Parts: sequence; structure tokens; C-alpha cells
Amino acid sequence: MIPRDFIDTLLARVDIVDVIDRRVPLKKAGQNYQACCPFHSEKTPSFTVSPTKQFYHCFGCGAHGTALGFLMEYEHMGFPDAVAALAQDVGLPVPESGEPDRPKPPPALWDALEQAAQFYKKQLKQTPRAIDYLKQRGLTGAIAARYGIGYAPDGWSPLRQVFSDYAADALAASGLVIDGDNNRRYDRFRDRIMFPIRNIKGQIVGFGGRVLDQGEPKYLNSPETPLFHKGSELYGLFEARAAIKAAGRAIVVEGYMDVVALAQHGVEFAVAALGTATTPIHARTLLRHTDRLIFAFDGDNAGRKAAWRALENSLEALQDGKEVSFLFLPEGEDPDSYIRTHGQTAFLQLLDTGTMPLSAFLVRELSRDRKLDSQEGRAAMIKDAKPLLDKIGAPLLASLIRRQIADLAHLQADELGLVGEKRPQTTRRAPRPQRRPAPSRVRSLARTLLMNPQRAAEVDPCWLDVNDPLSGHMGELMAWLRDVEQLSLPAIAEAARGSTLEPLVDELMTDLLDKDDSWDWNAEFDGAVKQLRDDWQRRRWQELAARPLSSLSTSERQELAELARS
Ligand code: UTP
Ligand code: MN
Repeated sequence: MIPRDFIDTLLARVDIVDVIDRRVPLKKAGQNYQACCPFHSEKTPSFTVSPTKQFYHCFGCGAHGTALGFLMEYEHMGFPDAVAALAQDVGLPVPESGEPDRPKPPPALWDALEQAAQFYKKQLKQTPRAIDYLKQRGLTGAIAARYGIGYAPDGWSPLRQVFSDYAADALAASGLVIDGDNNRRYDRFRDRIMFPIRNIKGQIVGFGGRVLDQGEPKYLNSPETPLFHKGSELYGLFEARAAIKAAGRAIVVEGYMDVVALAQHGVEFAVAALGTATTPIHARTLLRHTDRLIFAFDGDNAGRKAAWRALENSLEALQDGKEVSFLFLPEGEDPDSYIRTHGQTAFLQLLDTGTMPLSAFLVRELSRDRKLDSQEGRAAMIKDAKPLLDKIGAPLLASLIRRQIADLAHLQADELGLVGEKRPQTTRRAPRPQRRPAPSRVRSLARTLLMNPQRAAEVDPCWLDVNDPLSGHMGELMAWLRDVEQLSLPAIAEAARGSTLEPLVDELMTDLLDKDDSWDWNAEFDGAVKQLRDDWQRRRWQELAARPLSSLSTSERQELAELARS
């Protein structure tokens, strides 16, 4: 078995457009790409590839799937070979292929990290120097406990106190120890404040460790392991989840200490990337949790550069209706120092009034240091702008920004293909996808859940319409989605491969291609939920109202009264 996480990482690294284009040359057509279908014979292209959904589909013969599925079909490869081929393309080593009897990741890794975290926490309690350090940085015991902060004692191998088998593979594989020269093994983290990094389910996947005094490196992090992928994990997301939902926004800061200090001052919706730039996976994950995302950076040059990288990596994840903005703190301040000096109110005010929308930041940076009063300067700006604009996943926003850039360049909006999409050069028109019947409410719910699996919690199974054949599968689907909710859409499709849910997920995936990228899946979800709930309430009302009042229990009477009110 190849781990799901790996398939997720892999599918996030490859671009299906690229994979297919190398074998079947594609042409841009609107938001998608097209070609004549390689799987059946046709004269006009009905084979479509969606760069945002990372899915292909042929409206002629119905062939469809992810980049992996395409390789399997097109190159007649088995699943493992297709994984290996894609992984090689993007330079990712495939974890533990050819050991099918060993479950991945082995539970020993989770245990090792959990036990180490317990040990570090206990050590913190016994080390006044470490406690003083945290106090001096303004943290209370409660907040340290919330984030599971600990202390790794000095010495070569303090973890020997925890693990009777210090030579166990799991210790190296989980990144807790380093195997040095002459087979000498020692603890990776020594004399450091330990920040456990949890995945979205709350399981520890790695650590960041800070020196207490001066020393290099200031922060030491777990290496990439089967459980820990810096490019997809976010520090603090597990702890922040509820607060993000309540606040309707998330803020991305640069450091562990920023996350913890903000929480200490009651701003609990902050997360941090793990010492790397914000990746497209980060942006996608966060925009699944919230509609409003704020990146906070230092006001200096380095901060601006980091913000620009975050911008580039967020463009694809943008959707109309979602809002990404940037907060630039005064020079020399980070969120930790800012909130400690100025307090929560001032910080929240900054969030409300001091942020710059992504579009404004994009335009500002594109025109920075450019002579926009010369043709050359404007041409250079357009040249830089184009690839960025093409990446934007939000069609409405993209066309507004296009117009603004066109204005700056003194162009008519439709010149140089800057506004709207370029029409494909072909005179033949692709066949319109056949109109499908509108999905039933339950189906609507099921397919929108694939786009937003974390919203499964908002659905009460009793609302489901028992007459819909799909209702019988919804319980299983929703339980399964909880398991895969942090995966990307194509990875979810791949995770279903071989399970009893495969045919259903497969069908729903093609269902999703029915709508283009401007479709508001959240709105469809809200609509389906509301209708199902209303219908259920009506049925329940009729059922209760039809019975003589005397036969109703107290709680049924209460229910009836409530139903009458709603
Ligand atoms: P900063 O140096 O800005 O961290 O690095 P900070 O949180 O403000 O540090 P304090 O306040 O001095 O404790 C931001 C992030 O970059 C990563 C860490 O994730 C850190 O939180 N980093 C930084 C490293 O991984 N290694 C380093 O040596 C330094
Ligand atoms: Mn700091």
C-alpha cells in the first residue's frame, strides 16, 4: 500500500495538464484544455482537462480520472508503476514500495512522537530555566499546555529514558534521533523549547525546537518523514480550527511563537507555515477552512518578498467569494512583539483596517519600480502579469484585475488577450457537453461534499430523503470523507480507488466537471442542506401534527412547537 498522504503530495506536485500534454498535445479552451480523445476515435475534441480540479474527462466516451488514472489508461500501467513514473517526474522518492505487508505509516512512528512529546512536556515542568524562558516571552502555563509545548533536555540521548529500545527504526524514521558517523545515534533535539506540530486530526507529526539563548540554528525542525511534510502541514491549524470557524477568517503568520503569542492574547485563529514559504497546498487547505485569509508579514524587504511568494502560491487556490489579503507590520515587529506591546484590540484593529487585498498587492508589486510612462515599462509589466493572471483560480476577480492592469498599460481591456480568456485558435467548436439532468438534492449534497469534505459535520443524516437511492450511501460516504478531508480533490478520488465507495466517488467526480470554476460549491451545498432540512422539517411536522396531541411525549410536543415556529 502506498500511503494516501504520499499520493496527495504527489498529485499536488504534478500538473495533470503537463502530464497529459506531453503525451496528447492540449489546447487551452476557456478555463480548461482540450484535445481529441486518445481513448476513442473522434474528429472534434471532447477530451477535456481541468487544471483546477486536476481531472480529465471525455464528454464523448466518458473516460475520466486523475493524472494517475490517465497514466494507467494511456500507458497501460498498473497503479504502483503509474505512481512510480509520476514520482520520478517530479523527483519524489516513493516510500517503501514493495513492502505490501507493512502498513504505512507504521503505528510505531505515531507512538514514538506522542511518547516523546509527553516526555518533553514533563521535562519542561522540571526545568525552571525553560519555564522562565517561556514566562519571559509572556506565555502562561495554560497556553503552553494548549499547544503541548515542552522542553528537550541537554545531553546526547535523553530519549533513552523514554524508549527502552533506543535503536528502534521508528526513532530515526520519525526524525527524533540522528544516526551519525560510526553508527552513533543521538537525539535530534537537545536543550530546546519544543513545539509539537499536529496534523489536522491532532496527531503529532513532527516538532520544531527553539534554542533558549543565542545559538544556531534558532529553530530546528523535524525532517521530512512519512508523517511530516512541511509543504502541507500548518502549525496550529488543529488548535485554531474552531476559532477560524467562529471568526470567519484565518491569519497566517511566520513563526511558531507568533501563533502561540497571538493565542495567548486571545487571537486564536492564527497558523504558521513551517519555516518554508506558503505553498499552494497551504493556501488550498486554508481556503477550505475559511473564506477570508490574511497573510501577516514583516514590513521590511524580506517580508515583502515572502508575501509575494505567498501571493504567487495562493493564486490557483483563489475562488470568487473568497478573500485573500496581506498585513504588513511596522518594520521590526512581528505579530508576537506587536500584540505584546500594543495588545489585542490594536492587533484586531490592524486586521480590520490595515490589510491590503491580494489584488491591490499584486498590482502594486507589478508596477513597482517600473516606468509606466514608457511603452517599454508597460510592456515589461504586462509580460510579468500574464502568467500570474492566468494562474488565478477566481474568474471574476481575475477579469477585474486584468482590466486594472490593462488600464495601467493604457490598453483597451480586450487587447493582448489581457481581459477574459483567449479563444482557442480552432474554428471547429467543441461539442457542448450534454446537459445532464439537475442533480437531486442528496446528489447535490454528495458532490458538494467532495469539494468541501470538512462541511460533512453540518449535515444531520436524518434530513436525508429516504426515497433518494443515494441516501443509503451517504452515511458511509460522510464517515469516509472525515478520513480524507484534508486531501486535495484528486487525492480523494485516488483514495477511493479499490474501496466500496469507488463507483460512487467516481460518479460524483465526473458530476463535478459539470460546473466550471466559477461555480459556487458552498452556495450549492448551503442550498441543498437548506432544502433537505426544510423538507425534513415539513415531513416531521406533518407526522407529528397528524397524531392526537395526547399521544405525544413531552419532547415530541416541544419539537412540534419548535417546528411550528420555524
Ligand atoms: P523567525 O526567526 O521570524 O521566528 O522565523 P520567530 O517566531 O519570530 O522567532 P522568535 O520570536 O525569535 O522565537 C520564523 C519561522 O521560521 C522558521 C520557524 O518555523 C520560525 O517559527 N525558522 C526560523 C526555522 O525553521 N529555522 C530557523 O533557524 C529560524
Ligand atoms: Mn518573533
